[in-house]
Amino acid sequence: MATTDLIVTSGPDALAADAAEHILEAARQAIQERGRFTLVLSGGSTPEKMYRLLTEPGRPTLDWSNTYLFFGDERFVPPEDSRSNFSMVKRSLLDRASVPGDHVFPVPTDVKTPADAADKYAQTLGKFFSIPVDQKPPKFDMILLGLGDDGHTASLFPGAKALNAQDAWVTWSPPGTLPPPVDRITFTYPVLNAARQVLFLVSGAKKAEALRDVLERHPSPTVRPAAGVRPTDGTVTWLVDEAAASLLKK
Ligand code: 6PG
Repeated sequence: MATTDLIVTSGPDALAADAAEHILEAARQAIQERGRFTLVLSGGSTPEKMYRLLTEPGRPTLDWSNTYLFFGDERFVPPEDSRSNFSMVKRSLLDRASVPGDHVFPVPTDVKTPADAADKYAQTLGKFFSIPVDQKPPKFDMILLGLGDDGHTASLFPGAKALNAQDAWVTWSPPGTLPPPVDRITFTYPVLNAARQVLFLVSGAKKAEALRDVLERHPSPTVRPAAGVRPTDGTVTWLVDEAAASLLKK
C-alpha cells in the first residue's frame, strides 16, 4: 500500500523550490541505484515555475545525461500549439537546459486520432523499457501530477471511460469540463500506480475543495479521479500550498 505524505508550503514559489528539491533527490537516488532517472512530467500551469527553477543558471539541476523525460498526458494538438503540454515544457525547461534530444519522449500528436496517439505512445514506452505493451506497465521513478479543480489528474476526468482502462498503459479521453476543450491522451491508472514515486503539485484556493475531498473524504475515483492514484508499492507525496490546503483539517 502506498505511503502518503502531505507537505504544505507557504505559496507557489516555495512549492516550486520544494518540488525541485524532491525531484533532484529522486534523481540522485534513481541514478545511484539504477543508472538512470525516468521522470514523467505533468502539464497545466502549476509545474511551469518549477521547471524554470530546475533550469535556472547557477541552481542545482538534473543530470540530463542520465535523465529521461516523458509526459503523463497531452492535449491532442500540434506540439507548437500553445495549449500543448509539450510547448509549455519546451519553453520552461527544454529550451533552457541541455537535455539530449533522444532523452525526451513527447506524445506523438501528428497522427489521425487521439486513440492512434495513445497506441503509438504506449509503443514508445514499451520500446524504451523493453516491455511488450500487453504486459504489466513500466515502473517510472517519478510521476509528477497536478490536480484539477474537479479532482481530475493527468487527463483522467470525472466519469470518463479512461478511468476504467485497466489493460492499456495509455488511453485517450474527450475533454473534461475544464478548458481547453480538446481531446487528450493520458496515462492510465495501471501506469500511474506502478510508479516508484508520485509527486502531486497543487497550488491555489480553487483546488482546496478537491484536495480536501481526495485527502480526507475517500471519494470514488469516478468523482475525484486523483483519489484513484494509489501506487501499489510506491510513495505519494502531496506538495501543496497554504491556499490549496485551506480546507484541510488542521
Ligand atoms: C493538463 C494537466 C492537468 C493539470 C491539472 C492542474 O494537461 O492540464 O495534465 O492534469 O495537471 O488540470 O492544472 P493547473 O496546474 O493548470 O491547475
